[in-house]
Amino acid sequence: MKKDFDRVLISKEQIAARVKELAATLDRDYAGKKPLFICILKGSVMFFADLLREMTIDCEMDFMSISSYGGASKSSGEVQLIKDLDHSISGKDVVIVEDIIDSGNTLSYLKRLLLSRDPASVKIITLLDKPERRTVNLSSDYVGFVIEDEFVVGYGLDYDQAYRTEKEIYVLSRSVYEK
Ligand code: IMP
Ligand code: MG
Repeated sequence: MKKDFDRVLISKEQIAARVKELAATLDRDYAGKKPLFICILKGSVMFFADLLREMTIDCEMDFMSISSYGGASKSSGEVQLIKDLDHSISGKDVVIVEDIIDSGNTLSYLKRLLLSRDPASVKIITLLDKPERRTVNLSSDYVGFVIEDEFVVGYGLDYDQAYRTEKEIYVLSRSVYEK
């Protein structure tokens, strides 16, 4: 393990097992439909790819990029749309795939934006949830793991663009961001 990490929070085996369970639940909940999964770049890219491969029903995918953080480890509260979807979502059953809900600002902005485009439905799936840090009233329809208020990296999640390609989810040492 790199010296930048305190400890493994969620192992790759735990991630894989939970992703399978979530995929089975989505297969059931969306049976007979063709949901459109939206990957929120870049943090959810690993989760998105693993989740959709575990699902057996027909799905569509699209990508969106938004920024709420800059290089800091605390949310600024401001959300900026960097890349919009390529296709219309009108009449579609949309599932937003996020890496983590922290304050809830990003997803609350996104959900409002997507609901204004006349979809059949909008649900949220997030790999990680830090409920202690919520500042807006928002909950995810599907959650992989509820975690404590600690800064985590790996499996898509970054600190200042680093550590995204790590296979496990680690707690980042405070010394890395309290310099
Ligand atoms: P929110 O808008 O405060 O809910 O923040 C959501 C976004 O903040 C996520 O999509 C992540 O990009 C980022 N974020 C929040 N907590 C963490 C963390 O512990 N590690 C890495 N990124 C995080
Ligand atoms: Mg993100």
